[in-house]
Amino acid sequence: MESQELDKRGRWGSKVVFIFAAAGSAIGLGNIWRFPMMVGLNGGAIFVLVNILAIILIGFTVMLAAFAMGRHTKKNPVGAYNAIKPRSPWKLAGYMGVFGSACILSFYGVVAGWALGYFYKTIGGVFKGDITWQSSDAIFSSFAGRPLEIIFCLFVIIGLTTFVISKGVRAGIERWSKILMPVLFGLIILLAIRAVTLPGAATGLSYYLKPDFSKFNMTVLFFAVGQAFFSLSLGLGTMITYASYLPKSDNLVSSAGWVCFFDSLIAILAGIIIFPTLFATPGITPDKFEASGGLMFQVFPIIISKIPGGYFFGILFFFLILVAALTSTISMLEVPVAYFVDERNWSRKKAALLVGLFCFFLGLPSGLSHGGVDIFTKWNFMKNMDLLFSNIVLALGALIIAIFVGYVWRVKNALKEISFGNPRFKLKPLWVFNIKFLAPVVIIIILIFIRTFAG
Ligand code: PHE
Repeated sequence: MESQELDKRGRWGSKVVFIFAAAGSAIGLGNIWRFPMMVGLNGGAIFVLVNILAIILIGFTVMLAAFAMGRHTKKNPVGAYNAIKPRSPWKLAGYMGVFGSACILSFYGVVAGWALGYFYKTIGGVFKGDITWQSSDAIFSSFAGRPLEIIFCLFVIIGLTTFVISKGVRAGIERWSKILMPVLFGLIILLAIRAVTLPGAATGLSYYLKPDFSKFNMTVLFFAVGQAFFSLSLGLGTMITYASYLPKSDNLVSSAGWVCFFDSLIAILAGIIIFPTLFATPGITPDKFEASGGLMFQVFPIIISKIPGGYFFGILFFFLILVAALTSTISMLEVPVAYFVDERNWSRKKAALLVGLFCFFLGLPSGLSHGGVDIFTKWNFMKNMDLLFSNIVLALGALIIAIFVGYVWRVKNALKEISFGNPRFKLKPLWVFNIKFLAPVVIIIILIFIRTFAG
């Protein structure tokens, strides 16, 4: 019965492949673009510390709950809530995930498109010669404000994502994650070694790794927890959907552990690449990052113009970002596609194509909000989409999963699901405490705190 259903919907080839795919979803622009930017804007090492604690205590907890729901129901998020609590409003959380995934993909695709643009710019030698903070800023603003190029890049990113998803779980997601993840890992290690061997690397490392506890405040907590959800792809049902292709024999606890570990490792390494190089470059301080272009597009070009072998490392860096971004965009598209395939009986190809087109059009206002079209620029369209979806919707989605698994489905049923593939779950009491109390309380606190950001 189980095997038939997995055969019909698709299944992962092995445990390792599932970890690759889920880590591929987790590791992305969130680690390489967003994380260092957040560190820079929120007091350096203290943010790193709080973020890691949030990943261990809350992120891991919610991820395991999502895995249990996905594997138990073998459904997309709407189907999963509905299967556990039929004819109840809980499935609205599933709809929020399906719609939210498409929305995140729309602006995330724009940033991935920028990486594509910077990839071919780097190859074309645009960042050779003497690049300063001003000239780098000017290159970014003029590129991001050029409508046709931005639309083209967004189209390529969404097109590639749609292509992979239309191929299905094995031939699509799995095949590409298996190739792309090791490449990513190799590249990032190479770049980190380059960065720590730069003169003056120590100052950057200490800013990044030595916490100044006086810098801790609610803003740090808010962004650190939000970053944990974003980076682990939690709150929209991505991990519910990915776990729905898992057999009962998989050990959900160790899989969630590995995904959290790899995700944190890559984020930490991204910081190790960025901060030493940044401090080795005169005239830039981390708090200068503008929230959109940030480090990746405004600081990195300066770096590659200055370091020996910069041309080569620059090409590698932007290629790495593209790879990381694609394995994440794939997971975002998979959520709505799984919904249309499971619940509406659409074919995978049709679902991928139509949802892909929807995301492309929805991405246009974000893409054109950096000078391309005045009204979108004035509205700060992309920044507001990011605030709404990356911080609020994700946290809300994670809160609902915690409450749903803790009190509606009930921990004993979730624990039964977890026990297949892991009969001795040693962290059981801690997980139960975290899912029922710690995660909901912390998320409610940060959601209340959002009001200060909304003005
Ligand atoms: N985790 C991804 C990243 O870090 C982003 C993401 C968010 C993916 C939500 C899926 C769902 O880049």
